[in-house]
Amino acid sequence: TTVVVNGTASHNIPETLWGLMFEDISHSGDGGLYGELLQNRAFQEVTPGTVAALAAWTPVGGASIAVIADSTPLSSALPNALQIIVPDGVAGVGNMGFWGINVNASWTYNASFFFRFPDTLPSSDVTATASLVSASGGTVFASANVSLSPTADWTQVFTTLTPSASAPDTLNNFTVTFKDFSGTINTALFSLFPPTFMGQENGMRADIAQALLDLGPSFFRFPGGNNIEGNTIATRWQWNNTVGPLTSRPGREGTWSYINTDGLGLYEYLVWIELMGMQPIMAIWSGFSLGGQTVANSPDALAPYIEQARQQIEFVVGNTSTPGGALRASLGHPEPFTLNFVEVGNEDQFAPSTYLYRWPAFMNALQPLFPDIRFLATTFIFNPVLGPTPQSYDSHMYDTPDWFAKNSIMYDGFLRNGTTYFEGEYAAISVNPSDLFGTPANGRFTFPTMNGSVGEAAFMMGLERNADIVFAASYAPLLGHVTQNQWTPNLLAFDAGAVIKSTSYYVQQMFSLNRGDAYLPSTRADPSGTLFWSVVQQNAPPAFIIKLANTGADAANVTFQLPAAVKGAARLVQISGNPTDSNTPESPDKVVPVTSSVDAGQDMVVAAPGFSVSVVTVPIA
Ligand code: AHR
Repeated sequence: TTVVVNGTASHNIPETLWGLMFEDISHSGDGGLYGELLQNRAFQEVTPGTVAALAAWTPVGGASIAVIADSTPLSSALPNALQIIVPDGVAGVGNMGFWGINVNASWTYNASFFFRFPDTLPSSDVTATASLVSASGGTVFASANVSLSPTADWTQVFTTLTPSASAPDTLNNFTVTFKDFSGTINTALFSLFPPTFMGQENGMRADIAQALLDLGPSFFRFPGGNNIEGNTIATRWQWNNTVGPLTSRPGREGTWSYINTDGLGLYEYLVWIELMGMQPIMAIWSGFSLGGQTVANSPDALAPYIEQARQQIEFVVGNTSTPGGALRASLGHPEPFTLNFVEVGNEDQFAPSTYLYRWPAFMNALQPLFPDIRFLATTFIFNPVLGPTPQSYDSHMYDTPDWFAKNSIMYDGFLRNGTTYFEGEYAAISVNPSDLFGTPANGRFTFPTMNGSVGEAAFMMGLERNADIVFAASYAPLLGHVTQNQWTPNLLAFDAGAVIKSTSYYVQQMFSLNRGDAYLPSTRADPSGTLFWSVVQQNAPPAFIIKLANTGADAANVTFQLPAAVKGAARLVQISGNPTDSNTPESPDKVVPVTSSVDAGQDMVVAAPGFSVSVVTVPIA
């Protein structure tokens, strides 16, 4: 195959092209990106007195424990407490973390909890011991004492834990025990944090955040996905319940079947996005919940939700003379955050008839207030026809590897009329086109597979070719716990100790780190064939960057006739494997990209093994 590359660029590559899509699904937030190590730390949204309310907690040393609705609640947002009845001896409670706790001797952990003595006050201070212990209880890795003053008022205590050794596995508990005390103590809002990514307060798990930073992402779409929608209107994501002290965050029933603490709140997202050098693509709730409840078509019914969305945006970009901007400043960020894109809902193709009135209601109110923000519609593109005409759409694609390759031409025929597109979710998820969302036994991927990743690469060639109208794209879902998940495959899998980079992760990275500045048109690939390519020009250092995907089993040589003289050696990054190969917890590095140096030539021959993606950077003379 010979590809002739044109020296005249057709369009620039937008700065926003490759980024991240995030929502709390498969414990990607609580138990994932969010650094908190304790599960069910504040007994949010649970029913007191039930076994379920004690999720992740166990008694230690003969204590009796129960979640109660405290007669003196810690706060109106956190009405529940963990009541511990301590017998003589050493007794208390333990938390198993999010299916394990990573005990690392090079870390210092910050631990805290609230307490009060609801009945008879002890005659003197009570010693509580916070510890990191093996789940079997045989090994104490770290412990520290804190003194609890005899008080019936809620009081917070803090300590640090520095393990004397790293644990061999993550089967560890955090415990708080009491000695020389027998009686009743109420506790609430426990917390245990390792060092966070870049030291952000109430911030992110360092290894996951680093893996995301290593993708070189430009944007972060959040907080959903289905998870912004809620299963009901009452349980939708509400920004104002996610900011301020943790004691004022009630949490919510997440859309993905577990409680969200909202410890990872709007402010934490925005600070982290800034630290990562990304920009937000932020969603507002658009009047439709996933269970089917929709806000009625009346100005009065819609007004409170539109106002909540306005306040959400004001919190992000309002100046400090506005209530939202002042609140943001009080949390430590007087400067407005960057906010260029706001998405109105998520996948409103599931409620198109009501989006016909919801879209204009939100747009007519919000666009004049925030003229510099580009609002994205979330129905199918131009279906239904919305007014005012959307400037941009977010479109989602989950399909087979084969579908992605064949549809690399998807945007080629779109009108160039000012409308821009965000491929806000896409992934090859199954080899079975008639049961895409089925089980692994029916072809669904558990982890991204090499053939899926190569199919996605073929599709991404089309996104680069159409980057004059496709301004952003993100694989989804981004993160999923290895076992506690609601969706597979995910770009990164993780558990309490490990982060597993998938074959699709590496493909995303190869595109993102080699995005170039301008697109050079070239001979068109046959969309029903097996070879797909894209060539861009990079300004500094000057280079042509060739990307080539081979979705077939047979190796192929492709000659790229480049439009200018080249010099020196070219750098080849290549990933290839068997079509069903995946990186898994057992074999996390089964398929990784390999970097090598190859001879550069103006007729540049790239050898593409079967099921491979290659990126060749050719320096310009
Ligand atoms: O990425 C998983 C889900 O897929 C998202 O929450 C939703 O937007 C889509 O249907």
